[in-house]
Amino acid sequence: MVTYVDAATAPLKNNGQIRLHGAEDFEGMRKACNLTARCLDELVAIVKPGVTTEAIDRFVFEFGADHGAMPATLNYRGYTKSSCTSINHVVCHGIPNEKALKEGDIVNIDVTYILDGWHGDSSRMYPVGRVKRAAERLMEVTHECLMRGIAAVRPGAKTGAIGAAIQSYAEAERCSVVRDFCGHGVGRLFHDAPNILHYGSPNEGVEMREGMIFTIEPMINLGRPHVKVLGDGWTAVTRDRSLSAQYEHTVGVTADGCEVFTLSPAGLDRPGLPAS
Ligand code: MF3
Ligand code: CO
Ligand code: CO
Repeated sequence: MVTYVDAATAPLKNNGQIRLHGAEDFEGMRKACNLTARCLDELVAIVKPGVTTEAIDRFVFEFGADHGAMPATLNYRGYTKSSCTSINHVVCHGIPNEKALKEGDIVNIDVTYILDGWHGDSSRMYPVGRVKRAAERLMEVTHECLMRGIAAVRPGAKTGAIGAAIQSYAEAERCSVVRDFCGHGVGRLFHDAPNILHYGSPNEGVEMREGMIFTIEPMINLGRPHVKVLGDGWTAVTRDRSLSAQYEHTVGVTADGCEVFTLSPAGLDRPGLPAS
């Protein structure tokens, strides 16, 4: 049986209990998540052919430092970068390096800032110059998956409703849902209970309650869903080398739905795609 605890008084470790947050916690998350969204906004003008993912990562570190925030990924379980940069067939956890982006690439940039102890976790896809129609369509489908997942969030429903909404849309569009990675509770911890699966059925998972805070971050492939992790221990790629896309928001469950904490203040939630 899953148990729910008051985030204000529960010990700060992931023991499987689900934290319920109050108004002050939501305010803390708004600030951290807004900083992450503003960083992802700034990156729209930075991502272009010739730029290295290392330069992008440096910007993420500096922007955080300028605003009193630390990247949560830095020294997290041995990871040594301020962001994840996942290009083309890389599903997630791509490690920034000195290789330049090239025209036609699509890259996911995933940033989590810690501000005043609160974690703001979000990612978007960035087309590099002009990209193929198939790549653009995959990004559109994946963003729509995220938004349909978010639309399923409300108290009383189960987390499986999120996965069901995502899976049914992705597969109707002849795409596949990655099973090996999921969304997660977030707040004062980076990765907390519960897991948010991006597939499944509405009667699975745990009941959503007001005050829960978690991410939804579907990874959608043009080909088959299977992934493998490269020898660096982080980089996850599609086994069939098909293109993969991902968008991520952090949301808080409200009395009648949810608040999306990581929305772009500039309306740049889907860079390079027509405004939704
Ligand atoms: N930000 C990723 C997420 O959405 C986690 C990255 S962990 C890292 O949960 F160590 F790979 F950076
Ligand atoms: Co996340
Ligand atoms: Co993330």
